Amino acid sequence: METYEERIKWFREARFGIYIHYGLYSVAGRGEWTMYSERIPAAEYAKLADSFLPEPGCAKEWMETAKAAGANYVVLTTRHHEGFCLFDSQYSDFTSVKLGPHRDIVREYVDAAREAGLHVGLYYSLLDWRFPGYFEPEKYPQSKEALLRQVHGQVRELMTNYGKIEVLEYDGGWDADLSEGRPQWAEFWKAEELNAMVRELQPGIIINDRSGKDEDIETPEQVVRAGKSKMTESCMCIGDSCCWGYTRFNPNWKSAEQLLQYLVQAAQLGGNYLLNIGPEANGRIRNEELERLQAIGSWLKVNGEAIYNSSSCDLIGASQPGLVDLNLQGPWTRKENIGYWCIFRWPGEVATAVRVGTPVKSVSLLATGKTYPFEWNSKTGRLTISGLPKLPPDPLCSVLKVEFEDVPRRMAEPDLAAWINS
Ligand code: GLC
Repeated sequence: METYEERIKWFREARFGIYIHYGLYSVAGRGEWTMYSERIPAAEYAKLADSFLPEPGCAKEWMETAKAAGANYVVLTTRHHEGFCLFDSQYSDFTSVKLGPHRDIVREYVDAAREAGLHVGLYYSLLDWRFPGYFEPEKYPQSKEALLRQVHGQVRELMTNYGKIEVLEYDGGWDADLSEGRPQWAEFWKAEELNAMVRELQPGIIINDRSGKDEDIETPEQVVRAGKSKMTESCMCIGDSCCWGYTRFNPNWKSAEQLLQYLVQAAQLGGNYLLNIGPEANGRIRNEELERLQAIGSWLKVNGEAIYNSSSCDLIGASQPGLVDLNLQGPWTRKENIGYWCIFRWPGEVATAVRVGTPVKSVSLLATGKTYPFEWNSKTGRLTISGLPKLPPDPLCSVLKVEFEDVPRRMAEPDLAAWINS
């Protein structure tokens, strides 16, 4: 079996993925939690399957969109908490193959992703709201057993029937009344056994931590942060939080600028950014999502060097929407001796970075290659770049490529007042 570092390599380099939430909730148009939040009985909810009619070729459109956004991998909800499977399963009749479109959407998705050259990820919800044994395992022990049989059987199907799967994202590992901790979840789902089977079938796979068992990646939701022990993939909605599935009237769309800030910040922290779309019932991607993804993609076409295959950088600077941040201009990413200063708040003709502890060799604008004069004070660590355009060269984010003599390091500041009379 490959080591963690070997397994995670492509994923680290990829930096940016597209999450696709698609299921019967896409028909309801009120978000993927509708069945539970409205306590819709299972038989009534199942009727939505009749109207779940993805247009032929919709998976191709998802991939075109992911490519246009500059993403390198995709993750599809093969079944969400509602239990409806987008794949053929001998463990369930509640599938897109037996109902609705009578098509294996996972197959279409996997084929389209591979054709587009995107890495393939599958999301699978362990919990299925149709099982009383999930909510009340002691009261309905047989239902709990049936749920577990289904989970283990379906994960085996997903890991066997679709060729190489590169990422497996569990969800819904928590217990229904949220009274227990991660070790208890792992025990409930028999996660140890489940993941051993997954690794045997897919030796190179990357598995997330939501079964309760830590594996390869941490997957915080709606926030960008560094991993506590493993690499982090921060996932986020474009619209309001907790509307991952298509939500017809969805307030608070994030702007392309905000989304880009999150992406750059994820790279700065050495993690990935998984940005979600929630296609409509027919599989189409709504304009609000499309135009934002296209804007990010256009930026990445020019500035992708600062993001893909980049590492975290020691130099100071950050930028997340809504966070107070004293290092105004923006975060740095890095590749060996090169620092990429991703400036969201363009300062005008002179840009000043502080606490730069490594000698600078050259400064240019990544988009054009044009070089700019700079001064670096080896005592104070102040780097001043001059002759820059008054207006931001890129309306979203302008990247200064700074070549250093060594890996750029933050200068220590043992006397916090030293700068006043320097
Ligand atoms: C959550 C939610 C869910 C969403 C997911 C995204 O745990 O329950 O609706 O699909 O996270 O990662």
